Amino acid sequence: MLLWVAVIVVIVGALFIYFNAFHGRESAFQIAQRVTQDIVVRSVPVVAQELYDKQRKPVIEIPWLDNNEVQQCYIVNDAAIAKEIFESGSNFSTRFGDNEGLRRLGMHSHGVIWNTDYSSWHGTRKCFQKSLSADCLNSAIGVAAKATISKFYELDNLVEAKKNVDLLQILRSITLEITLDLFLGIPVGTLEFSKQLEIVDRICKYFEAWSYYLLRPPTMYDESQTKIHDKSVENLRASVTELNTLAQKSSDNFAQFIDSKNLEDHDQCILEMLLAGTDTSSVSMFYFFYAIADEQESKAREWIDSELKSVDALIKISDGKLSKPVLDKLSVITAGLKESMRVKPVGPVALRKARATVKLQNGIVLKEGNNVIINLASIHAAQSKFSPPHQFRIENYLNDELELIDTPYFQPFGTGQKGCVGQFLAMIEMKSICYHLLSRYEFRVPEGSPTLLTMETFWDVANQPKDDLPLVITRKNP
Ligand code: HEM
Repeated sequence: MLLWVAVIVVIVGALFIYFNAFHGRESAFQIAQRVTQDIVVRSVPVVAQELYDKQRKPVIEIPWLDNNEVQQCYIVNDAAIAKEIFESGSNFSTRFGDNEGLRRLGMHSHGVIWNTDYSSWHGTRKCFQKSLSADCLNSAIGVAAKATISKFYELDNLVEAKKNVDLLQILRSITLEITLDLFLGIPVGTLEFSKQLEIVDRICKYFEAWSYYLLRPPTMYDESQTKIHDKSVENLRASVTELNTLAQKSSDNFAQFIDSKNLEDHDQCILEMLLAGTDTSSVSMFYFFYAIADEQESKAREWIDSELKSVDALIKISDGKLSKPVLDKLSVITAGLKESMRVKPVGPVALRKARATVKLQNGIVLKEGNNVIINLASIHAAQSKFSPPHQFRIENYLNDELELIDTPYFQPFGTGQKGCVGQFLAMIEMKSICYHLLSRYEFRVPEGSPTLLTMETFWDVANQPKDDLPLVITRKNP
């Protein structure tokens, strides 16, 4: 009897495979596998944008292979729907990712960024938020100034030698120093420049590992690649251990908060502060500098120069230092930073998982476990105010008096319970860094280089330039 059952199962199975092969029909699993594979190879933002360009639909549904199970995934291209999801309390406050990959990155049920264990994430996020207090934001202006001025020596040497500058690396080392100072109590100037660059390089390599492991099913691993990425994760962890020995805990810094909570993922939290706090702002600022370094942007540069002059006059009559009210006067620089985050958002997609079944206002039902890709890049470009949509136009955020104006839906930091913890710090530090660099130096895109529009970028969880793009640097009024 058992033998007959086995024979029937084999025959039915063989017929099923033959039927599917003969008719070229794929199972739901195979379709999800194929789609996931395509996205893993070509990246989420590229495929999401391609689908949007073809279909122009507010929500596009695709099958996804999520930890070996078929799951629906919704790509959201509409501002109102994105807002509804972002603001839907805890319903979308986790992300989707492959568990094995997250384990290898140290993020599985650990840290804050991709921690899918809601209660552990919630407690950890509070530590991050607490450390970004008003005091922290206040001291950020001065710390950012110090970290930027400390790079003048390297930059002046390049000017003197008439060499081009890898500005992105300089910006990364500045934001690294700021993060170490504000959150670990390691003062600016403690680490040699070469040591800063070593850590910056390790952060970039971790990002590569992150994008490799995040969504890739383990069946798609390549042994030689996994070895490289495991090593990158190990290297950044080693840097965190080293930084821990230098950390100075004070009553209100991050190092103290996570220490006192005895978190078993203490080091992962520090590692994630380095990831989240450095690359995003450096890359966003780089796009801004690159845009205005273009020959075509002479008008924007003129506006910036006159803004810097009037701000300098203000600083002279106050206590000689950059302060929050003075930063608030940097409308043109703020507009430029916003426009760079609109045209080339460093986080072009926000990935979320539904924790409960939710019916959206347009009738779409997202079931518990469904995945969501909020396509911030297409949302930022699609609104009629921005025309042509992909062109950098600093005036998109300014009125005729060069004052900042309200803009349509703009969420480069995401929002809601899982939105960016560091968005206010990011704006403060970026403005302070830009003020100091733009007051002293002029940057130009060398002839033959791509423009911001034609520059190739790739998604390593953060969207960054594919190639090194050195800029010509000169001193203003030397
Ligand atoms: C221009 C600079 C920055 C940009 C564009 C940016 C953008 C983003 C985006 C898009 C997200 C995901 C939001 C979502 O899913 O809704 C995010 C998350 C996050 N950001 Fe930022 N960020 C920046 C700077 C910073 C800084 C300076 C810090 C820390 C000091 C920081 C800390 C974080 C953390 C911890 C998360 C994860 C929050 C969570 O998942 O609970 N970010 N950021």
